[in-house]
Amino acid sequence: MQHKQESFYKQAKKEGYRARSAYKLLDIQKRFNIFKRAFYILDLGCAPGSWLQVAKKFAEDNLTKYKDQFYHRDHYKIMGIDIKNVSPIENISIIQKDLTLPEIQEQIDLYFQNKLDLILSDASIKKSGNKFTDNIKQMNLCYTILGIVKNNLKNKGNLVIKTFQGSDFEKFVNNMKKIFRFVKSYKPSSSKKKSNEIFIIGLQKK
Ligand SMILES: C[S@@+](CC[C@H](N)C(=O)[O-])C[C@H]1O[C@@H](n2cnc3c(N)ncnc32)[C@H](O)[C@@H]1O
Repeated sequence: MQHKQESFYKQAKKEGYRARSAYKLLDIQKRFNIFKRAFYILDLGCAPGSWLQVAKKFAEDNLTKYKDQFYHRDHYKIMGIDIKNVSPIENISIIQKDLTLPEIQEQIDLYFQNKLDLILSDASIKKSGNKFTDNIKQMNLCYTILGIVKNNLKNKGNLVIKTFQGSDFEKFVNNMKKIFRFVKSYKPSSSKKKSNEIFIIGLQKK
């Protein structure tokens, strides 16, 4: 393990995060303030659960932080979805299913009722080693997620989505620009240099 990755791993262990991916999300938050006024949050591809841990912390803080007349909620709702099993986290709804199944849409609808403030996706396909086909598979997954975003994210809501840098990357960014007022791509410092993963942040759904 590289020195930097090893130190993120140790930090995660010390701070009680289930994975060092937590620091990618914390880095994105620092830069884009995606959790501002976020009470209803969906996390796609959530196992083992470190992004859920981060989301819960910000949602809890928001309950006391935003007690103004503009936008206030007296509770939060967080749902995580993954094919893999995720150990329970108090007050978080975890669904063990493939997020591409049509029935997922209904479950999200029922739980959030179109009030979703933020959608997070760190979902990634199992890499085969063939960059070309891996990119296509990841992009297909990202387009399915964009469908969920179109249907469920509220007006002015935010999205963080993991993609791979490849041939269809620009096209995907352009599709995001149709949905969000501001679109940025970002590689957190805790993301491995040699990995081609990159996060796209969509701010303020149109
Ligand atoms: C990098 S991990 C997520 C780590 C997580 N953000 C955390 O901090 O704990 C990517 C996850 O995406 C999940 N995934 C990939 N394709 C999926 C699909 N079609 N449906 C549900 N989960 C999926 C994988 O099972 C894997 O657990």
